[in-house]
Amino acid sequence: NSPLRLGLAGLGTVGASLARLIEAKAETLANRVGRSIEVVAVSARDRSKDRGIDIAGLAWFDDPVALASEAEIDVFVELVGGADGPAHEAVKAALGRGIPVVTANKALLAHHGVSLARLAARKGTEILFEAAVAGGIPIIKTMREGLSGNSVSRVYGILNGTCNYMLTRMEAEGIAFDDCLADAQRLGYAEADPTFDIGGFDAAHKLAILTSLAFGCEIDLDSVFIEGISAVTNDDIAAAAELGYRIKLLAVACRTDTGIEQRVHPTMIPSSSAMAQVNGVTNAVAVDSDLLGSILLAGPGAGGDATASAVLSDIMDVAGGVLPPTLGLPPAKLAPYKRARMRAH
Ligand code: NDP
Ligand code: HSE
Repeated sequence: NSPLRLGLAGLGTVGASLARLIEAKAETLANRVGRSIEVVAVSARDRSKDRGIDIAGLAWFDDPVALASEAEIDVFVELVGGADGPAHEAVKAALGRGIPVVTANKALLAHHGVSLARLAARKGTEILFEAAVAGGIPIIKTMREGLSGNSVSRVYGILNGTCNYMLTRMEAEGIAFDDCLADAQRLGYAEADPTFDIGGFDAAHKLAILTSLAFGCEIDLDSVFIEGISAVTNDDIAAAAELGYRIKLLAVACRTDTGIEQRVHPTMIPSSSAMAQVNGVTNAVAVDSDLLGSILLAGPGAGGDATASAVLSDIMDVAGGVLPPTLGLPPAKLAPYKRARMRAH
């Protein structure tokens, strides 16, 4: 089979992790989908920056739009960021050529997701975005596939790793807000402009996407109530703890008599609850639905490898899907194992 050729725009925290991961796991990935997955073209601003990846032999583009418009690729992976500007233009260019797009860009989707999905449908291609909500947690596939027969009444959770990391350290170590934010930036958790994190906008972008999937409606960012954690102090956190509560930045979407309510704000939640135990960069998403009841998914919500894991899952989908599950054992080995166990009983 011919290799799946990727055009990778953005070689920062997530893009560089993805490139490293694709190289390190090349054989495993190829075995799973029956073809190799190869980065053939890349784009970033600074060609001379050491990113821990070998770009020799790859087509280089200073401009992601040129990559999306001109490169000989099968998938365009957008890891540049930003709702408008080059990320938006490049995604439109790739979809316009009928090339599938994989993106982690929740700002782009929250603002332009509906028009981009329409463009993809018109061109007979698709836009995949597992990494855009809750980092590495496979919440998009869970909503689309695992819950497809359910009616969702509420979806809520901790959707911003930077804020949860900061609130956790402010409580556990008494570290000042600005110092926690600087650490989150150093660790690659924060957005290029961290106002999106601490202002609650990033969580709102993710919530708007989740709401659309959960309730089958168009993305509506404008109707999200947004309050971030900028005004939360160490004293607030200590006072909440004395009362048996933790402060978390919660994002909530629920069905009400008057429509779907969407809100993001700091919330005092009982310290004993499962959501209060979600610490550090971990995210958690709870979904209440009619058939399944309540589920809670938790896992790394930001960072290079965790996010690249989600991006890669979309690339694998485009490449041809994974082989059917074998419970970890190839069928040939399963039969003797079963017989041996049955004899022992
Ligand atoms: P970074 O800021 O680390 O990387 C952005 C990359 O895009 C850099 O390689 C940069 O080039 C390149 N770039 C930026 N602007 C331009 C431009 N005008 N022209 C060409 N290249 C440009 O971002 P992240 O990797 O952290 O995030 C990428 C995307 O993934 C964003 O949409 C973000 O919201 C999303 N995301 C991030 C997560 C995380 O944990 N970091 C988690 C989930 C989603 P150069 O390196 O030369 O400066
Ligand atoms: N800045 C985001 C966060 C990255 O901290 O959650 C993951 O989307």
